[in-house]
Amino acid sequence: PLAGPLSGKTALVTSGPTHEPIDPVRYIANRSSGKQGHAIAAALARLGANVTLVSGPVTIPDPAGVTVVRVETAREMLAASLAALPADIAVMAAAVADWRTADAADAKMKKDGSGRPPALALTENPDILATIGHHPDLRPTLVVGFAAETGNVAGYARDKLARKGADLICANDVSPEHGVFGGDANTLHLVGPDSMETWPTLSKVEVAERLAGVIAARLGE
Ligand code: PMT
Repeated sequence: PLAGPLSGKTALVTSGPTHEPIDPVRYIANRSSGKQGHAIAAALARLGANVTLVSGPVTIPDPAGVTVVRVETAREMLAASLAALPADIAVMAAAVADWRTADAADAKMKKDGSGRPPALALTENPDILATIGHHPDLRPTLVVGFAAETGNVAGYARDKLARKGADLICANDVSPEHGVFGGDANTLHLVGPDSMETWPTLSKVEVAERLAGVIAARLGE
């Protein structure tokens, strides 16, 4: 770790999508690229933190100066995140699949000739942010969640803050016209229990630097 305001602090960052298998060759996923979460991991490391980045399947390079743990599914991401605790800081930027298939097939599913598609039964994944935000023994000092919304961004963010036990929620509007999923820029609303700041549209690297600065200031209080 580098010398800086977060020297001696440890951080867990999650990033990227999760892949939830349907069968050995098919999966349910989303359009997260990992750009925002990876940039946050790098920015915290530049401020001196000892960072573990738990990443879903992404094609971008590993950030410099962080320990990267690669996972595929939400359940693997939960296990790897818990294994990275205790930590002073948690930033949950991953786009975790809310649902997985109830029963992934062991062999590739085949068309049966009937013309009727198979029904995919889904079941809910564990909520990693809520698990960590409400953890009885291992809750980090500062827990930062994200909220990806397509409307009522601040309202849903405040709801997630309480429900998931976060100190701060970074809410972003992921309607397709904003191109946040996969793009290089983000417009973020930083929502606390009784505060909300709207940041200008910035590159994901600039968003990460600004957020790392907020985190360092909070931990210094
Ligand atoms: O990866 P990029 O292409 O750079 O895009 C960045 C991003 C849009 C993915 C990112 O900025 C972002 O918004 N990440 C959170 C996406 C998301 O899944 O949001 P959500 O509103 O569904 O979830 C809210 C919070 O709960 C998030 O912190 C999420 O990590 C967490 N969560 C959700 C479900 C679940 N089962 N476990 C969780 O921990």
